[in-house]
Amino acid sequence: MPSLFDPIQLGAIHAPNRILMSPLTRGRSTDAHVPTPIMIDYYRQRATAGLIISEGTGISQEGLGWPKAPGLWTDEQVEAWKPITQAVHDAGGRIVTQLWHMGRLSRPDVIGMQPLSASAILAPYNRGPGPNPYAEPRAATLDDLARVLDDFTLAARNALAAGFDGVQLHAANGYLIDQFLRNGTNKRDDQYGGSPENRMRLLGEVVDRLIAELGAGRTSVRLSPNGDSQGADDSDPEAIFVPAAAMLQEKGIAFLEMREQNPTSSFGRTDVPKLSPAIRKVFTSPLILNQDYDLESARADMESGLADGIAFGRPYIANPDLVERLRSGAPLNQPDVKTFYTAGTEGYIDYPALNGPASEQPALQAAE
Ligand SMILES: Cc1cc2nc3c(=O)[nH]c(=O)nc-3n(C[C@H](O)[C@H](O)[C@H](O)COP(=O)(O)O)c2cc1C
Repeated sequence: MPSLFDPIQLGAIHAPNRILMSPLTRGRSTDAHVPTPIMIDYYRQRATAGLIISEGTGISQEGLGWPKAPGLWTDEQVEAWKPITQAVHDAGGRIVTQLWHMGRLSRPDVIGMQPLSASAILAPYNRGPGPNPYAEPRAATLDDLARVLDDFTLAARNALAAGFDGVQLHAANGYLIDQFLRNGTNKRDDQYGGSPENRMRLLGEVVDRLIAELGAGRTSVRLSPNGDSQGADDSDPEAIFVPAAAMLQEKGIAFLEMREQNPTSSFGRTDVPKLSPAIRKVFTSPLILNQDYDLESARADMESGLADGIAFGRPYIANPDLVERLRSGAPLNQPDVKTFYTAGTEGYIDYPALNGPASEQPALQAAE
């Protein structure tokens, strides 16, 4: 069995190791969702990852209800991404962007309109003090969905123009595509609701649009199949996510990445068993698993053949040279939760690398 440090072909992308950086929203863009120069350093510092998956990146104003998260629908946003992808490439790395429509989790004070979802069901809020910042969404009409598909097409085209190596469709964590997949949030009675086949229709249509722009070898998808995600849940996760994974295999995407929760996780908990064993049977292209991995558990899931690679989230926030640390058994820096989403450089580009401050290592070489 290959190890974390062996190369892997992810569709058209050759990754020199199997350690991926999972998508991490950090809120360092402008109010107009334009990436800022500190993001150049941040991503360059992490260029030894087998593949960087960017933070969730909005496809439209309507779908990006997170303040200071980046977008990919204006020329200004595209231009601001270019030096970021260039810096990663110059440092020997690879980066795809995670395309994001937040659906009912788009805060109305950020998007300036009522958000869309599969059905008009308000998202619950239990992430902190204060009132629920979400609004009851409108059930998307067929015209709305046609526009959303066009927005994904434009964002995919812009991703290529901005220099990304590909895209990851964010179909996880209770956002728009996930709201359509799950029967707790999708109560529609048209061709997008009801049966699993209907609920995964939007996922399939978006993937088709991305493939048309970029090719299947540069198109990937993220799912979070087990348990509640920000209020989105399903009474029978296996019945929707196993066929969805089979459909993605059929479409020939480059890889599928899955965030799987567990009963003790510090990032969303669930007792719902992991679906990766069932999904592995129908998805035979590269399957990347995520959440709560360390070197030992990563090894175990790769040696059993369950995973072809592992995506690390919080460890990548705090360890720009995570590949080297895992390879050498060096201790890991611990991430500071307080600066996950704050503006500025603190807790962002100042985590030290093994050989000194990461910011003083302009030309980190690729690991292999
Ligand atoms: C600060 C922060 C931001 C995140 N942003 C995103 C995001 O933009 N898109 C996404 O799919 N998941 C996002 N996640 C989830 C992570 O990608 C990952 O699934 C989670 O941290 C669990 O992996 P870990 O145990 O390796 O940290 C975020 C998590 C954190 C902690």
